[in-house]
Amino acid sequence: MTDTFAELRRRDFSRLDRGGHVYLDYTGAGLYAESQVRAHADYLCGCVLGNPHSRNPSSMAATTLVEDARRKVLGFFNADPEHYEVIFTLNASGALKLIAEAYPWEPGGRFLLTADNHNSVNGMREYATAHGAEVRYVPLGCELRVDDLEEHLAGAEAGKHHLFTFPAQSNFSGVKHPLQWVETARAHGYHVLLDAAAFVPTSPLDLGEHGPDFVALSFYKMFGYPTGVGALLARRNMLGELHRPWFSGGTVRFVSAQNSVHLSHVTGRAFEDGTLNYLGISAVSAGLDFLGEMGMGRINAHVMRLTELLLRELAALRHSDGAPMVRVYGPQGTVMRGGSVAFNLIDPGGDTVDFRVVEQRTNEAGVSVRTGFFCNPGAAEFAFEYHDDEAFRCIQTLTPETFTLQQFSDCMNDYAVGAIRASVGIASNDADVARLMEVLATFRDAAAASVSNAQTAAVVTAE
Ligand SMILES: Cc1ncc(COP(=O)(O)O)c(C=O)c1O
Repeated sequence: MTDTFAELRRRDFSRLDRGGHVYLDYTGAGLYAESQVRAHADYLCGCVLGNPHSRNPSSMAATTLVEDARRKVLGFFNADPEHYEVIFTLNASGALKLIAEAYPWEPGGRFLLTADNHNSVNGMREYATAHGAEVRYVPLGCELRVDDLEEHLAGAEAGKHHLFTFPAQSNFSGVKHPLQWVETARAHGYHVLLDAAAFVPTSPLDLGEHGPDFVALSFYKMFGYPTGVGALLARRNMLGELHRPWFSGGTVRFVSAQNSVHLSHVTGRAFEDGTLNYLGISAVSAGLDFLGEMGMGRINAHVMRLTELLLRELAALRHSDGAPMVRVYGPQGTVMRGGSVAFNLIDPGGDTVDFRVVEQRTNEAGVSVRTGFFCNPGAAEFAFEYHDDEAFRCIQTLTPETFTLQQFSDCMNDYAVGAIRASVGIASNDADVARLMEVLATFRDAAAASVSNAQTAAVVTAE
């Protein structure tokens, strides 16, 4: 199997080795296979595609390809077309926002979400609160997992609308939360929105087995190309429960300006604003075929072998006195986790090395990792063991105009205010892991250096 992936890297990702790149940010974005892009360019050069809202031949060709892509997406996730619809969006955030703005939040209703969630899920709480729903977070325990979900699901008022949202895989720790939660939460009277953005690039998702009400994802995370296309997979019976706060071109069957009347589509079309990215969507089927040909099971096995190697090598990094150089946040093993590993370097005195110093060195070595909070503040707060009162005191000093991470960091004293995330994917290999280790090993026996002014100025967000 290693040979298959080595051959794939030579054939379809040769730009990595040609340019000396070590790409370890697959949870940020997947990389496209070069053959995908060539095939798409050939396809576009051979057809004429127009706006799908018209009714001419070029328009109908575009409509056909969009509908084919919808079928393909449903098939890929084993979603029964009788029960599920595919709504194309800009990205996973776009899919989440559709639910945020249209879910029937109400006083007495509840928005329950794991503390481990991307900011595009956290942001949904603004809509829930504005409509009087209660917002509750499920805390994280050992290994940044949830200890007892049922305890938090309990007590949802009968007859009200409740939504539970969790990521199938954490974009912070790589933890895979149990998909069985879908059934558990539904049994407690919740609708379930599954954020599958970090899970589906390297793990098979079978909606015939676990059937959430909604699933959000981005295609560039799965196969790198195209950007700007994501999807909301929604149960058909839920569409009628969602109430959009506006309408737009493409979402309506009839509008009167004179009489301020509009009739929305009653299908998923009611959620697709304006003209779809039909050229981008025309590359989705090929991307899914590419993953399908490699086989999601094989991709998962490849990624987990590399994750194990990464975890083993990180644990083996030691200062001369034998003290560990790395603190991994979340699971140290490969059970119920994916290929994202978040960590910080620790100096011989036990202090955390500022992630910005590490980032400078990985950047200089051509190694792409992600640093910061990774847009997942809840998991970060549990990982860094913040006390909420202390963090609250520091947060109160922040203003959007003057905010710098350094200001927050100074206020938080000894706490970490960011980490490093290495994530492996379809084109990763052992040499990538080794190159990262070489860079990290340069911190052996060195005292944590303070971050330079230039670096401070460059990093102004806590994402
Ligand atoms: C778990 C998770 N959810 C949602 C998102 C948002 O995805 P996008 O930026 O493509 O909208 C991400 C992106 O990193 C993610 O990892």
